[in-house]
Amino acid sequence: MRISEPKVVAALPDLGVELCPGTPLAEHTSLGIGGTTDLLLVHEHKHLPELVSLLDRHAIPHRLLGGGTNLLVADGELPWVVLQRARSGHDVILEGNFALVDAAADLGRTVTYCAKNNLGGMAFEYRHTSFAPDDIMLSVKLELPSKPFREILEGIRVCNEKRRSSQPLNQKSAGCIFKNPPGASAGSMIDALGLKGHRVGGACVSGRHANFFVNTGRATAADMLALIADVRERVRAANGAELENEVIVWKD
Ligand code: EPU
Repeated sequence: MRISEPKVVAALPDLGVELCPGTPLAEHTSLGIGGTTDLLLVHEHKHLPELVSLLDRHAIPHRLLGGGTNLLVADGELPWVVLQRARSGHDVILEGNFALVDAAADLGRTVTYCAKNNLGGMAFEYRHTSFAPDDIMLSVKLELPSKPFREILEGIRVCNEKRRSSQPLNQKSAGCIFKNPPGASAGSMIDALGLKGHRVGGACVSGRHANFFVNTGRATAADMLALIADVRERVRAANGAELENEVIVWKD
């Protein structure tokens, strides 16, 4: 979608918003898939409420993009504009055992920065927060326990080693495609059906972890959605289990 209303375009600089017309979202998602739309880079989050109401007043549909790592975006010209917080060099501020972290901060860099300051033990409860799905988080204040840097580093090393050995980290993916059903593993169910390497167009079930579907080069959203539907149906037929998407799909 292109913003054609001159009043909206004219108001953006005062809100600290940079308009990037016709941006391919494939360049902003870890899957490397996604059509084209106007991207609004928000440099100062204090202006976000005003920006959202400006877009609402002019009936311009919009979505908020985070890091783009758990997201499958449709192909072609998209029917909404996308807002994204611009990253800055000053996105983590430490005050004693508190870390004030901007929503645009890179997770890996934040964890390492806190670790270097002997603060560890970060994480929401597994797949649960007290926030509503349409709440917008601008920044968080985390209270972190003090831990020696070496101990935190060892924890990070163990996690990274586990992920490197079992997940296709050097390929384009959105992480796990399906949630684990209670008491079961979606990856092992898909693997047990011999589906590693199964593909639709450029979308393929990873040979390393069957709950990761990778873009082998030129996958479209249509390829990926067809692969997801096919694997879900095969698991349903074989196990009677209904796999729910873990990946967020922006289709319409
Ligand atoms: N397994 C297989 N074949 C496979 C993949 C896994 O048999 O192709 C087996 C493993 O051997 C293991 C079991 O399935 O016995 C569980 O596998 P794994 O330890 O890899 O964990 P997971 O449940 O598949 C979860 C999260 C991951 C997270 C890892 C960290 C979900 C859906 N996935 O994976 O999160 O990185 O634990 O250990 O909860 C994500 O959020 O995108 C994600 C990938």
